[in-house]
Amino acid sequence: MPLIANQKDLVCSALLHSNDGIAVADAEGTILLWSRGAERILGISPDDAVNQKLLSLPLEPLEEGGNFFFIMEKALAVKNSMDVVSTLKGPGGSLVTIAINATPVQFEEDPEKSRGCAFVFKDISSMQKREAKLEKNINFLETYLAKFNEAQMANMKMMRELAFKRKEVVELNAALHALNQNICGALEDISHEILSPLANIIGYSNLIKSGDESISEESREFLDLILRSGVKIQSLAQRVLDVSKLEAAIESGTIALNPCQFDLNGFIGEILSDFQIPIAEKKLQAVINLGKGPLTLNADMVMIGQVVSNLVSNAIKYNSKEGKIIVESGEEDGFVWLRVSDTGIGIPEEELPRIFDRFHRVRQGKGQAAPGIGIGLNLVKSIVELHKGTITVNSRPGEGSAFHVILPREQLERRGL
Ligand SMILES: Nc1ncnc2c1ncn2[C@@H]1O[C@H](COP(=O)(O)OP(=O)(O)OP(=O)(O)O)[C@@H](O)[C@H]1O
Ligand SMILES: [Mg+2]
Repeated sequence: MPLIANQKDLVCSALLHSNDGIAVADAEGTILLWSRGAERILGISPDDAVNQKLLSLPLEPLEEGGNFFFIMEKALAVKNSMDVVSTLKGPGGSLVTIAINATPVQFEEDPEKSRGCAFVFKDISSMQKREAKLEKNINFLETYLAKFNEAQMANMKMMRELAFKRKEVVELNAALHALNQNICGALEDISHEILSPLANIIGYSNLIKSGDESISEESREFLDLILRSGVKIQSLAQRVLDVSKLEAAIESGTIALNPCQFDLNGFIGEILSDFQIPIAEKKLQAVINLGKGPLTLNADMVMIGQVVSNLVSNAIKYNSKEGKIIVESGEEDGFVWLRVSDTGIGIPEEELPRIFDRFHRVRQGKGQAAPGIGIGLNLVKSIVELHKGTITVNSRPGEGSAFHVILPREQLERRGL
């Protein structure tokens, strides 16, 4: 239905005041209509635009083909509506991105100017900025996700490797355990093999010495030498046997503690009296500071004896001539403590973590090595730990060493079989 004049004015007015950018131009590019919305978006008033050429507008497209005139020519050429996004530099120099719909139109009144184009455009700058931001965020998220996936893969790889390594460690531990048991067993066997014929050697030497009065003085001296050497080997083999048996029993969980109540102070006194000769030989000064009264301890007496003997034996062996041995004891909060100190050669700091290892000895200069095979402290540590106690050492080379043992006063239960 054709529009009556009044209706046309109404439509025109509505278009003019539309919020969207609306412009109409004829085929030569002369602007016939320029809405308020177009002014708001592009900063060119209808007065400055109408009757002007599209190409003369102060609008600079950033991309080729973003010009209103070119868009119109294209739409006219294809005789169809076109959608184009164009970024233009406006009269104030600011950039604005618009989405333009260009539609070829036919003017009824003037057949000369019968062809032209109607543009409807929207400012999409902020939308574009939002899109760009969104894209940036998506990119960031994608990179983050890729990195996360990468890290997760690396993590899984590490977990697999860790599980593999753990398995290796378990296997290695089992192998070491088996090897240790073999060594303990072998040491036990060797000691037994040595001890039985040795018992014969010592026994028969004694028999000859005491039973045959006709033997010469010289032969008697040889017999004494055989006996002394035999006893020395016997005590060495016996110690190796003791340590191996103890270790094997600890390993297999069959260790038996035989706790009894005794006075540690009195016991220390007894043990020290066994060392009188070596102490005198080395002209050592023994300082005994055991505190007053008995020091009651509930523990395996034989084993505690080995602890005291080994520490005192070391304090003598690694002391300098005319040095000092200090043996102290006391009690505190349900624990008893024992300290054996000396003023001997001391232990280098780097050796301290290893001196409790079985068969480990600090290497001394040639000809200075004290006799021993490195099992005393290992035995001491095993016994102390079996009694749920601790042993620590302080030492300075050239100044001396102090071994400090702490034991619970009571063994709460009879452990082992
Ligand atoms: N009081 C000490 N002063 C200096 N070094 C010590 C002392 N006690 C132990 N050591 C060092 O620690 C090592 C291990 O001591 P451990 O008692 O286990 O063995 P050992 O005395 O060499 O031999 P064993 O006790 O079997 O006869 C010793 O070889 C020695 O180097
Ligand atoms: Mg020793």
